[in-house]
Amino acid sequence: MHGVFFHFLKEYMQEKYGGKESWDSLLLANGYAYKVYFTIKEYPDEEFNALINMASRLLDIPSDHLIRDYGEFMVPHMLVFYATYLKDKSWRSLELIENVGTSIHHTVKRRNPDTRPPEMITERISRDQIVLRYRSERKLCVLLSGMIHGVGNHFGEHLEIREHDCMLNGASECRFEIWRRT
Ligand code: HEM
Repeated sequence: MHGVFFHFLKEYMQEKYGGKESWDSLLLANGYAYKVYFTIKEYPDEEFNALINMASRLLDIPSDHLIRDYGEFMVPHMLVFYATYLKDKSWRSLELIENVGTSIHHTVKRRNPDTRPPEMITERISRDQIVLRYRSERKLCVLLSGMIHGVGNHFGEHLEIREHDCMLNGASECRFEIWRRT
């Protein structure tokens, strides 16, 4: 998992759950007295999962809730961090999600072959509705659903999501219907 997801997890923990100590105790509980995650490096997926599961245990919050909330939190930060990828100023929430699948994640992979961004295939149903199919061996569809809401927040649009098929229930991909309600 790319360092950017760890970097913003630190910001999330610090901002939402009590400053520097919350992140430090999370690291400590995972066996690190000190650790810096770099936003240009890849780290084992298990390390990300371990941090989420430990945070869930320490904070007594279900891990699904935590990871979805984290996804929603991190997107606006991520879009500032990766501002150079947002070429078209006319994009709003659904247009950005479409472009992540058709272009942005492919560009990320081309520039850095070590990364493994998920496949996101979209179909435009109407001006305010798309279908999104997500495939990743990491099966992070809960994170993705939070990220979709984060995209909506970033653009001041309310997005409603319904998940139909889910890899966590054995499907080969997750399929989301997404409506723009504003
Ligand atoms: C400028 C925009 C974006 C850039 C540059 C970008 C880049 C990346 C990168 C570098 C990763 C890490 C890959 C790895 O760990 O090896 C990633 C993962 C991911 N991205 Fe994006 N991303 C962008 C926007 C989005 C948006 C808007 C969504 C969803 C609405 C999204 C969904 C995801 C998900 C769910 C992952 C987690 C990894 C997985 O599911 O396997 N991304 N992205």
